[in-house]
Amino acid sequence: MISRPTKEDGDDERPEGKGKRKGRRVPEETRAPQTRTLVVVPVWKRQVRVGEKTKPFPQIHTPENRLAEAVGLAHAIELNVIDAVIVPLSEPRPSTLLGAGKVDELKQTVADLEIGLVVIDHIVTPVQQRNLEKAWNTKVVDRTGLILEIFGARARTREGVLQVELAHLTYQKGRLVRAWTHLERQRGGGGFLGGPGEAQIELDRRMLQDRIDAIKRDLADVKKTRDLHRKGRRKVPYPVVAIVGYTNAGKSTLFNKITGAGVIAMDQVFATLDPTMREVKLPSARRIILSDTVGFISDLPTMLVAAFRATLEEVVEADLILHVRDIAHDETEAQAHDVEKVLTDLGIDTLPVESNILEVWNKIDLLSDDRKTELQHEIERNGRPPVLVSAATGEGMASLLEAIDARLGSSDQILDVIIPGSSGALLNWLHETCDVLAREERKDGSVELRLRIPSEKKNRVVGQLRKNGISV
Ligand code: GTP
Repeated sequence: MISRPTKEDGDDERPEGKGKRKGRRVPEETRAPQTRTLVVVPVWKRQVRVGEKTKPFPQIHTPENRLAEAVGLAHAIELNVIDAVIVPLSEPRPSTLLGAGKVDELKQTVADLEIGLVVIDHIVTPVQQRNLEKAWNTKVVDRTGLILEIFGARARTREGVLQVELAHLTYQKGRLVRAWTHLERQRGGGGFLGGPGEAQIELDRRMLQDRIDAIKRDLADVKKTRDLHRKGRRKVPYPVVAIVGYTNAGKSTLFNKITGAGVIAMDQVFATLDPTMREVKLPSARRIILSDTVGFISDLPTMLVAAFRATLEEVVEADLILHVRDIAHDETEAQAHDVEKVLTDLGIDTLPVESNILEVWNKIDLLSDDRKTELQHEIERNGRPPVLVSAATGEGMASLLEAIDARLGSSDQILDVIIPGSSGALLNWLHETCDVLAREERKDGSVELRLRIPSEKKNRVVGQLRKNGISV
C-alpha cells in the first residue's frame, strides 16, 4: 500500500494552508515504482425484460467512458497503464467473475506484456480476487481497492486520513486471506498495492477490529474539534461558497483562478481529497470563504461513502454551492446527474429554483462556436441560468463573480451611516460584523461608512446603531 501521510506530514486543520497541500505528491522515496498495469473494464451484456420486449441493461456511462475513467483513476496514482480492455459479460462467474475463456486469454496478455498489476473496474469478491491472482500469477485490485489507494495518497487532514484508514481496514477485514502472503512473497519488495501487506496479514481479525474501534474513537474526537473550529468560523460574517463537481471537471483550476492561490491543478482524477478553503474578496468587496472539495465519481463503492462524505461536510453548510461541470465532456449530463444524486443524499435541495446551487459550465474554450451559441440559447430558457466559463483561459470569470455576488446578496441591505469619532468601539464592531464598502474620514473627526449588511444581521446592526444614538 502506498504509505499514508503521518501526523508529521501535516494533518493539522489550518484552513489557510490547506490549499497548498492539495498538490503535494507522495514523497519520491515511498512512491511505488511505475507498475506495469492492465486495466480491465467488465461491461454487462445483460438484457432486461420490459413487457414483451427485451432491452439492453441500462448503463448510464458508455463502456468507452468507463474505460477512460478507470485509466484516469490508475494514472491518478501513477500506475503505468500498458493496456486497457473492455470485457463484455453476460453472467458473473462466482469463482472468477470473468468467463473461463476470458481468464485464459488475459493470462496470455499478462504474460506477454509482463503485467505486474491488473485493475478490474468492478467489485471483485475476495475469492474471485484470489483465483484471478492464481490464474494470472499477478496482483489484482478491484475498483474499491484502487479508489482506496487514491484516497490514501490524497488524504491530508486528520479526519480524512482516519476515514480512509477506517475504510481500508474494513476492506481488509473482509479479505484476510492467507494465500496473499504467498503472493506477496513471490513478488518480493515494493509491496505496492499489496492491500494488507505482510505484517498486516498476520494480524487476526480481532486486532483489526481493535484498530477499527480505536479509529472510530479518534474520529469522534476529531469531529468534536472540527465542529468547534467551524463554530468559530461561523462567527465570521462571511458566507461559505463550496465548489463541487465531477472528478476532472476543473474545480481546482477554478479555485486557483478565483483565489489566485498556488493550488496545483493536475490532469488527474481526485487531485483533491480534503476541502481546501480560502478567504476571497469579491469585486463588490463582499468577503467569502471559498471551499474546494474532492471530485465525485460514478458508482462510489458503499464502504467509501463515509470517507467521501467526511470531505463534503462543508458543502452541507455552505451558503452557496458552485457545481462545476465539464461542459465539453460527452457525458456531462450523466456526470451532473451523479453529482446531484450525491447532493440529494446529503440532504441538499437540487431543484433549480429553490436550491442554493449555481451551475458553472466550465471548459467552454473546448467548444465549437456553434455549440457555444446552442448553449447560450439553453441558458436563456433556464430559470436559474448557469454561468459559462473557462477556468483555463479566465473567460467568464467576471460574470461568475458577479453571479456569486448576486446570489449571495439578493437580500443584503446597503446602509450609509456617520459614526462620531468618539465611538471607536462601535466602529470596530461594525468592521467585524458587516462588509464595509466605503469609509471616509470627515473633517470633524467623524467617519462616514457605507455598509453592506447580510439580512440575518440587519436587526442587530440597526439596534446597535440606535443604541449609540445614530439614526438610521
Ligand atoms: P479532481 O480534483 O480530480 O476532482 O479534479 P478537478 O475537478 O479539481 O479538476 P482540475 O482542476 O484538476 O482539472 C482537470 C483537468 O482539466 C486539468 O488538466 C486542467 O488543466 C483541465 N481544465 C480545467 N479547466 C479547464 C478549462 O476551462 N479548459 C480546459 N481546456 N481545460 C481545463
